[in-house]
Amino acid sequence: MSGILFLKTKDLSSLKDFYINNLNCEIWQDQGDCVIFRHGNFLFGFCERDEIENKAMLTFFYENRDDVDRMYAKLKDVSVSGPTENDKYNIYQCFVKDPDGRMVELQYFNEPVSQYMAGDDLILTRRSIRKFTDEEIPPALLEKILDICRYAPTSRNTQGYYFKVIEDRDTLDWLSETRQASTTPLARAPIAIAICADPTVTARADHDACIAAYHLILTAWFYGLGTCWIGGMDREDIKDRLGIPPTHYLATVVPLGYPAERNMKAPKRKPLKEFLP
Ligand SMILES: Cc1cc2nc3c(=O)[nH]c(=O)nc-3n(C[C@H](O)[C@H](O)[C@H](O)COP(=O)(O)O)c2cc1C
Repeated sequence: MSGILFLKTKDLSSLKDFYINNLNCEIWQDQGDCVIFRHGNFLFGFCERDEIENKAMLTFFYENRDDVDRMYAKLKDVSVSGPTENDKYNIYQCFVKDPDGRMVELQYFNEPVSQYMAGDDLILTRRSIRKFTDEEIPPALLEKILDICRYAPTSRNTQGYYFKVIEDRDTLDWLSETRQASTTPLARAPIAIAICADPTVTARADHDACIAAYHLILTAWFYGLGTCWIGGMDREDIKDRLGIPPTHYLATVVPLGYPAERNMKAPKRKPLKEFLP
């Protein structure tokens, strides 16, 4: 479910130019005399009519203050006021005007906000995180993430996978040494989660556990947490240490925590045609 805010304009083409080229929006739906723009999951539309509706204000918010400063520098010619703190709302903001004279706010929330990420942004911005802050993961957040992971698809809906939450520092340090450089992210995280599956419950233990693990990785990212797939964990010594029966499949043990780095550039991907041999 989502929604759209519509406003009237007399000059759709100037607004298209402004919102696409200056504010990095994309056209979500072009209906001719009405165009709906998208900025993340913010949907707003303009319809060409014989009057301008510009009493509204459009607010674009960014991941960090630098982005607000960068956008402000780009839009200085149409600025109304430069970036300042707004203590009342605990935001960092500036104002510019669009070609209709409509107020546009560019802001950063100083406090973390509830999640809002659009689906494609979730997939495209997810990165493997190998360094974490010391911030603890609120237990309610961890429970919410694991609860959402119950909706991972499984072979014949057998749901034979399970999670083991590892909080013990000695165990995390031991795990981090099992495959040297490959497993070091485990030493740098507040917790880790092992994703396993019981082959007596599912005939596809490996598939089910891997899919559940990826659900965990994506859900964690949606809620602002970082993870990294660690390969080669389906080993007797690791299962023994974690209390996982030797016959169960261990897909991975992922570190979990608040990323120490943000807005990381994606490692280069091959062009689509190479994935379509
Ligand atoms: C099957 C698999 C095994 C991986 N093993 C490790 C690992 O042992 N250690 C590690 O730091 N990253 C590991 N990764 C993470 C990859 O290096 C990472 O996904 C890749 O470089 C692309 O980066 P991105 O996830 O940020 O897009 C693994 C990823 C996959 C899918």
